[in-house]
Amino acid sequence: MADTFDVLIVGGGAAGLMCALTAGQRGLRVLVVEHANRVGKKILMSGGGRCNFTNTGTTPANYLSANPHFCKSALARYTPWDFIAMVERHGIAWHEKELGQLFCDVSSKLIVKMLLDECHAAGVRIETSCSIERVAHGDSAAAAGGTAAGHASGGMLFRLHTTRGNFAAPALVVASGGLSIPSMGASGFGYELARQFGHHVLPTRAGLVPLTLSGKHQERLADLSGVALPVTAQCNGQSFSNFLLVTHRGVSGPSILQISSYWQPGDDLRLDLLPGRDALDTLQQLQHERPAAELKTVLAELLPKRFAQRLCEVWLPNKPMKQYNAPQLRELAQVLQSWPLVASGTEGYRTAEVTLGGIDTDEVSSSTLQSRRVPGLYFIGEVLDVTGWLGGYNFQWAWASGHAAGKAV
Ligand code: FDA
Repeated sequence: MADTFDVLIVGGGAAGLMCALTAGQRGLRVLVVEHANRVGKKILMSGGGRCNFTNTGTTPANYLSANPHFCKSALARYTPWDFIAMVERHGIAWHEKELGQLFCDVSSKLIVKMLLDECHAAGVRIETSCSIERVAHGDSAAAAGGTAAGHASGGMLFRLHTTRGNFAAPALVVASGGLSIPSMGASGFGYELARQFGHHVLPTRAGLVPLTLSGKHQERLADLSGVALPVTAQCNGQSFSNFLLVTHRGVSGPSILQISSYWQPGDDLRLDLLPGRDALDTLQQLQHERPAAELKTVLAELLPKRFAQRLCEVWLPNKPMKQYNAPQLRELAQVLQSWPLVASGTEGYRTAEVTLGGIDTDEVSSSTLQSRRVPGLYFIGEVLDVTGWLGGYNFQWAWASGHAAGKAV
């Protein structure tokens, strides 16, 4: 015998909780199964403990997916303003940091509390520390021992065999997230489940992740660990202007995290070290104004001093400004504006904020998030091949896809 529900949701993260409260508000009997000891762990650790819960500038262009159109429908039907309205109803103070990124004033705990309060009010049951041993899909009478829910479904039920009992429902929502930060409960469960039901899973890799350097590339920067500077990072037709931070193992900072989602080993990655300036104009002006000053001295006024010195030790010939002829000045400008960063890899899922790739959206309805292969099966959030930029876009996808499925189940 199994406890029967209208909807079973695997994963009590951002997408799962949003789906649960939306379905619960419609009067459906909802169970959330979470294998960690508490729900919303990534929400708690996000945004430095203040949760960058959305971005007011969200558009489909802020997402990576093999099908860039897939995210449009859900994002259009649940906007950042819908989430802000819920945040305000719960009296949670927030502020915009930069670039449309909204954060809690006090703590990300308030976002988890809000979602839990909404779930509670909607009668959602949540089982934590609950591990799923097996998922089956079959005839309702056999599945649920002929209970009312089984007959009401008029057909097939999903059955979860878990360490906390057996549960059955005509709808199963997979909201188990991606692979990043395994210590927080991340697992490949959603991908395995998708394959079990005949879905195609696109290759996954770490995104929004620090890049590592090796060999001479690492040696040249390693002792500058902690140095930060604004750059524009460019790769595969994308560019992001923000800070770069030199780390012990390579480079990080928002510009690098953003571009990491567009970079793969071997790809050409360039940094404009003087973002917002014309490097040649700047050098010509400096040559004119300070002909006797050395390049490393004038660059140290535009860049962190140690970084400028290292540039002039390794990449740029250092001499007084007046000694550069016009072609040499153009070469300097070229290096400063398109400095090649030879990364060897990424720090991987251990520190990545997101997982790129995942369940192929071609086999999922973009309006309901229901499988096109198996009626009653839904996929939401990061487990799908939809990945946002840094800056609140990933939570907005979790809220929007969770809401769409919560309305459709
Ligand atoms: P999420 O990972 O939130 O939830 C999945 C849930 O499923 C987890 O609770 C997990 O334990 C559970 N689960 C997994 N396998 C299971 C199984 N077999 N059985 C039962 N349960 C299972 N985004 C953003 O927009 N703004 C931000 O500020 C940040 N900050 C940030 C910081 C850090 C350190 C990380 C790692 C990530 C972020 N993100 C972010 C990204 C954001 O956290 C992420 O995209 C969303 O949480 C994805 O929501 P999901 O609900 O899809 O997965």
